Amino acid sequence: MTDSKYVKETVLGTREWVPGKLFSITVSRPEHFEFKAGQFARLGLAAPDQPNAEPSVWRAYSLVNAPQQSPLEFYAIVVPDGEFSPRLAQLKAGDAVYIDRTLFGFLTIDRFEPGGTLWLIATGTGLSAYLSMLHDPTTWSAFDHIILVHGVRTCAELAYADQIAHWQGCAGTAPFNAQFTYLPIPTQESLPDTPRARITTLIENGQLETLANAPLDPATHKIMLCGNPAMVTDARNLLKTKGFVAGRRGVPGNLAVENYW
Ligand SMILES: Cc1cc2nc3c(=O)[nH]c(=O)nc-3n(C[C@H](O)[C@H](O)[C@H](O)COP(=O)(O)OP(=O)(O)OC[C@H]3O[C@@H](n4cnc5c(N)ncnc54)[C@H](O)[C@@H]3O)c2cc1C
Ligand SMILES: NC(=O)c1ccc[n+]([C@@H]2O[C@H](COP(=O)([O-])OP(=O)(O)OC[C@H]3O[C@@H](n4cnc5c(N)ncnc54)[C@H](OP(=O)(O)O)[C@@H]3O)[C@@H](O)[C@H]2O)c1
Repeated sequence: MTDSKYVKETVLGTREWVPGKLFSITVSRPEHFEFKAGQFARLGLAAPDQPNAEPSVWRAYSLVNAPQQSPLEFYAIVVPDGEFSPRLAQLKAGDAVYIDRTLFGFLTIDRFEPGGTLWLIATGTGLSAYLSMLHDPTTWSAFDHIILVHGVRTCAELAYADQIAHWQGCAGTAPFNAQFTYLPIPTQESLPDTPRARITTLIENGQLETLANAPLDPATHKIMLCGNPAMVTDARNLLKTKGFVAGRRGVPGNLAVENYW
């Protein structure tokens, strides 16, 4: 197995956030498994009727833990009738899961020049990639202000709220040096002092800037978008009109995106 492009690892635990829909899973970390905050791994499962066979189905999952933290953690949704996610959700401590040795993805803070304000905008499980960045002190020392925006359907889907509240409490003190703003945005339920609207609507009408008390400035702000591909496309088009563009040919931009499907 040592020469294989993937390794067999062990599920250490699971946590359900919304029954039947959202869960987290921790998995033992392969040796020599290095990654950058924001990257994703490929997880594999063997066919259900052949648990000892080679993995036959693979899916991408962003790391939740920081590069220097173990075990590996993933935050996931159960896609009804999906081939992979309902099976991943059924795994228990001690079960096997396969991990590709190669790490993937370019949604990393080194896409941007350091300094200024970093917007981390997600829908649903797109939050995962940002949790890894926020667990990593490097992110906090690279920017002056970090704004985390999480769009979900219901309040119950605001996963990791305790962890995020912890970061709110220690923001501004070493090693969490940056100022930190958290904007949870449910669309199917109301949250006090929060408009019940999609993130894209709030970008378009300027309310996101008002909520964050941070007028968008393409000279000093950097924005990441992650999650639902329709949100990513619409938000990218809106932000383009405000001066936000992806980097290219070694020129760092101020916009980076990742689609989850
Ligand atoms: C770069 C990358 C990173 C990813 N990271 C994560 C992650 O951290 N957590 C996670 O849960 N998924 C993540 N995904 C999605 C994941 O790889 C699978 O697509 C997902 O688990 C569904 O697999 P499935 O076989 O059960 O369903 P499939 O049969 O493959 O169904 C796919 C359909 O399910 C829906 N869907 C897929 N993923 C999601 C999602 N995350 N949220 C809402 N609807 C979805 C879409 O409608 C999509 O067309 C990521 C995908 C990519 C490309
Ligand atoms: N009842 C249910 O729970 C239900 C229903 C349908 C599907 N599903 C399943 O649940 C999964 C969806 O998971 P999810 O709720 O985490 O992800 P999601 O559908 O991407 O929704 C997450 C958040 O993104 C918003 N959003 C969706 N499309 C957008 C766009 N084009 N622009 C801006 N914002 C957008 C949603 O707003 P809106 O609320 O306005 O859409 C919601 O606030 C699918 O796999 C599907 O199979 C569940």
